[in-house]
Amino acid sequence: MCGIVGYTGNKQAYPIVIKGLQRLEYRGYDSAGIALLGSSLKIYKKKGKVSALEKDVIGKDLEGNTGIGHTRWATHGEPNDANAHPHQSQSGRLAMIHNGIIENYASIKQELLLKDYHFTSDTDTEVLLNFIEDVQYNNECSLEEAIRIALKRVVGAYCILLISKDEPETIYAARKGSPLVIGVGDGEYFLASDASPIIEYTKEVIYVNDFEMAIVRPGELILKNLGNEKQTPFITKLDMELAAIEKGGFEHFMLKEIYDQPDTVFDCQRGRLLPETGQIIMSGIDNNMDMLINAPRIIIVACGTSWHAGLIAEYWIEELCRIPVEVEYASEFRYRNPVINKGDVIIAISQSGETADTLVALENVKKQGAFIFGIVNVVGSSIARMSHAGAYTHAGPEIGVASTKAFTAQLTVLMMMALKIGYAKKTIAYERYYSLMVELVAVPNKIRQIIKNVAGIQRIAKKYKDANDFLFLGRGYNFPIALEGALKLKEVSYIHAEGYPAAEMKHGPIALVDETLPVVFVATRDTYYQKIVSNVQEIKARKGKIIAVVAEGDDVITHIANDVIAIPDADELIGPLLNVIPLQLLSYYVGIEKGLDVDKPRNLAKSVTVE
Ligand code: AGP
Ligand code: GLU
Repeated sequence: MCGIVGYTGNKQAYPIVIKGLQRLEYRGYDSAGIALLGSSLKIYKKKGKVSALEKDVIGKDLEGNTGIGHTRWATHGEPNDANAHPHQSQSGRLAMIHNGIIENYASIKQELLLKDYHFTSDTDTEVLLNFIEDVQYNNECSLEEAIRIALKRVVGAYCILLISKDEPETIYAARKGSPLVIGVGDGEYFLASDASPIIEYTKEVIYVNDFEMAIVRPGELILKNLGNEKQTPFITKLDMELAAIEKGGFEHFMLKEIYDQPDTVFDCQRGRLLPETGQIIMSGIDNNMDMLINAPRIIIVACGTSWHAGLIAEYWIEELCRIPVEVEYASEFRYRNPVINKGDVIIAISQSGETADTLVALENVKKQGAFIFGIVNVVGSSIARMSHAGAYTHAGPEIGVASTKAFTAQLTVLMMMALKIGYAKKTIAYERYYSLMVELVAVPNKIRQIIKNVAGIQRIAKKYKDANDFLFLGRGYNFPIALEGALKLKEVSYIHAEGYPAAEMKHGPIALVDETLPVVFVATRDTYYQKIVSNVQEIKARKGKIIAVVAEGDDVITHIANDVIAIPDADELIGPLLNVIPLQLLSYYVGIEKGLDVDKPRNLAKSVTVE
């Protein structure tokens, strides 16, 4: 997930490309860079936001009618100047920017290293660029043909823009899995990840399809597939305004990110979860497996939503790996004088990788010699860098303050981790390991089924938007989901909400129940189902308003609850990844009904970097 911009035509490229990058900055900005082609090839790139790049190029040669620009969301190689795009090929002839992940870059890099290629960055992108150059050299073919040959070898996702000193007006573009839009001007072309950098110049756009390649010059656009067959460009007219485009047509980033989850859960599994071979490949775990399977204890340290992910992981790891787990609020853990024993493993969970409480808590235990495994979304962030090993969640930039897609990505990594360790420890049989793998693979489509039909959730939100309090109840794996649902509602609707273990109600909180209190039960089919039916009855008997998240086909609670949200069934261990989705949507729609800014709720920040 990053921003890509290109221009070729009769104007100077720099102003158009740099402004386009500013428009795309919401997509992630670990670094920014630009390559300009005119009398020479010039490349400028800088860690940080586009503004840092603009400062860096003051006074420099910015002439050229062809240009490509990139704002990076790092996946391979931490954010720094060297890893920033555009990358230049070894000969210096080619420059390229890339959005996506080349999964098989390591094997390609090995082949190139044996041919004396050297690399100036840690990125998968530079590997692909030098691979294209090597293919052209070995096959003595055109650059266009070399790109086609190279891309057929690539496993993963890409949108690339590539320029060559030998063809100062041409941009080569290709995509698979990452978006590319081409704006058609008067003898000029605008290329970008989405239409936001294009719309001010033209509303006529071509949405390039997967496995297609565009060769663009002033006044000429050729569209082909990787089989070198010409395709007819289909020009559509943009009917969205700029603001809407940045949110992908959604009204808010929060809703966009809820709807992103089928893709982000898949991206998190991509290249790691391989049911065809029964493998889960995660180098951070593979390289430290002895440490992990022999850990006497695992301590999970996090805040907020990430802490809820840790609570679920506690159930999973103890169930599947038989390793004792403690889950600590980082803000508490950092001030205690915790006992850290030899061999203890600390798992740090953080979307931003910059949460001050989590960071300091980790620094304290690192001094005591603990092994830190980081599960982070932002590549190269402080927590990622201070961890001994880790696994990125690859959820892309999460803009909405209320965390949604990062949470389900964290759960995906944690489940893969528990499966890997449990299987290595032989605390779970292959059949159970494999069945959960298959269940995990099915999650993206099941989320798609949930988000396809939100009318019922919108109705419930409208019905209860004026409540003063909510209770969220769940048992087992769904207890942390109840906590997460309560936190989501508090954050975006400002309604007081509490999450509780359903069985805990009788120890006091049931005194709160009356006919004004909505009680949300996470009551999908699992080991605890019969028990939770009793809890539902207890609330019903006291006239509480029951909103139940149930499995499709439920025929007990469905007849007791006041309102029901039915979702696809799943193994109870996998349930949390699905059960949270309706609660995310419920909080979003209540916030909307109340006319609140759900993307930037009052008093909150996306990353709490203060103590
Ligand atoms: C979640 O919706 C909140 N925005 C907040 O609780 C967040 O999860 C918490 O601040 C931790 O942030 P991190 O994952 O970036 O460390
Ligand atoms: N995988 C490339 C990198 O890490 C591109 C990431 C992106 O899409 O910004 O540099």
